[in-house]
Amino acid sequence: MSDETAVLARELRDRVLSAGFTYDAVAEALGPRAHAALGRNETTPGVRATGGGSPLETLTRLFLLQVPVPLEAAERALPGLVDRLAAQGVVEQSVGEVAARLDVRPYATDDDDRGDLWVVSDLTPGLDGSPARVGPDHVLGISPASTSLAQMTLREPVGSALDLGTGCGVQALHLARHSGRVVATDVNRRALWMTRFNVALNDLTGVDVRDGSFFEPVAGERFDLIATNPPFVISPATGERLVYRDSGLPGDRVVEHIVRTGPNHLTDGGWCQVLANWVIAADRPWAERLEEWVPEGTDAFVVQREVLDPAAYVELWLKDAGQHGGPDYAQRYDTWLSWFDAEGVEGIGFGWINLRRGGATQGAARELLEWPYDVEQPVAPATLQWARARDLLHRTPDLAAARLSTRVDVLQETQGEPGAEDPESIVLRQQRGLRRARKVDTVEAALVGACDGELAVGQILDAVASLLGRDAAELRATYLPVVAELVAEGFLDGS
Ligand SMILES: C[S@@+](CC[C@H](N)C(=O)[O-])C[C@H]1O[C@@H](n2cnc3c(N)ncnc32)[C@H](O)[C@@H]1O
Repeated sequence: MSDETAVLARELRDRVLSAGFTYDAVAEALGPRAHAALGRNETTPGVRATGGGSPLETLTRLFLLQVPVPLEAAERALPGLVDRLAAQGVVEQSVGEVAARLDVRPYATDDDDRGDLWVVSDLTPGLDGSPARVGPDHVLGISPASTSLAQMTLREPVGSALDLGTGCGVQALHLARHSGRVVATDVNRRALWMTRFNVALNDLTGVDVRDGSFFEPVAGERFDLIATNPPFVISPATGERLVYRDSGLPGDRVVEHIVRTGPNHLTDGGWCQVLANWVIAADRPWAERLEEWVPEGTDAFVVQREVLDPAAYVELWLKDAGQHGGPDYAQRYDTWLSWFDAEGVEGIGFGWINLRRGGATQGAARELLEWPYDVEQPVAPATLQWARARDLLHRTPDLAAARLSTRVDVLQETQGEPGAEDPESIVLRQQRGLRRARKVDTVEAALVGACDGELAVGQILDAVASLLGRDAAELRATYLPVVAELVAEGFLDGS
């Protein structure tokens, strides 16, 4: 990007700041109804709510509602910038009016207290029921998938980070706030331009934007953190391709490739975090198939959040491409579904893949979990907690001697007949992180209740044995493996 464009991006930053064009201010200007309507791609309530002509309203109309604004209003909101933004293709001028050609919007993050980011991307397609077709090199704005990846990405300070498939650069912007240096890659030149623009727009440094496919632009390099929302849509790879979602590889090969090779680009203890779809084959458990991709020496914490049925999946992505209702819709649907049938695809999994190279366990820690339930967001701390638990188990061969503490957010739920002396069932439920729940018996409940970091687990089990009149050795033999599970699942922690 030329110095001139970088200067333009910085001046745009000054203007959006002085207009108070923040996420909260836009939401307030729109009001809850219009804000919710815009979330459904409807602009009419928003247009009705933003007629006052303030710079904030003008920017909201121009970029979020995609309404042409009078030239004088645009000049007031973006003094001295309208011609230059038009020259760069961000806006377009016609007689007396200015219309957006790209989307510019504030983006609220909960990373830290540095406030909003601003992101330029292609315009949101399909507002007010208009055809949602986009070009093959469309650069997606902040999508629900972008937010999911941002929430699962570890935010501890790191030396180096890689955003593979950067698009408008949203992950790179997050990463730049806690990484010494960031490399952002993409194969779409327009995406690379937007990422560079967005880095300057957010006054960030240390982001190296590179052209190239998958790991080619970082051959021989290692990172402490890789965060990627790759083009993971599972399709027959017919040659037709929307680059933001189709890798050009058939099936889930793109995700397999990243899982198999990503760890080669990690430093020891580094993490590769991937938002992904994967095939659920008719003849094989999904977890077995995915685990096979994980290289030796790599820990894996994979969470399957959702399973889509193949027909619903095809509909979702044909609609996303604006094909629904098109003349060849049925034909496209049939081709895609026939391919799923031929490949033995029974369902499509969606979820989070977290890989850690080396670390204390040297790759011995693997968990592939089906967890479609509500979790605390951002969920990243739960991944760190997962790794801490695995490290603790790895360095503590004798759990009987360990002094463990019950996690402070664990609550006990009991159920039973009214007035009954003993509950019929006891469930321990975490209030935070993954919010795991576990049905336990009286011994486990008593054990978890007594773990406060003072007594060793063995001492607690012996005391429970004597209280219940059970054999102490037998109780230890039965419950020490259960203690390992309680640690692995995060109910018990090292003190
Ligand atoms: C789903 S978008 C993710 C964009 C952004 N990182 C986010 O989180 O919203 C996937 C991105 O991968 C890029 N991409 C497609 N094929 C690629 C490849 N072979 N190598 C690197 N990036 C690729 C696309 O151009 C697109 O920008």
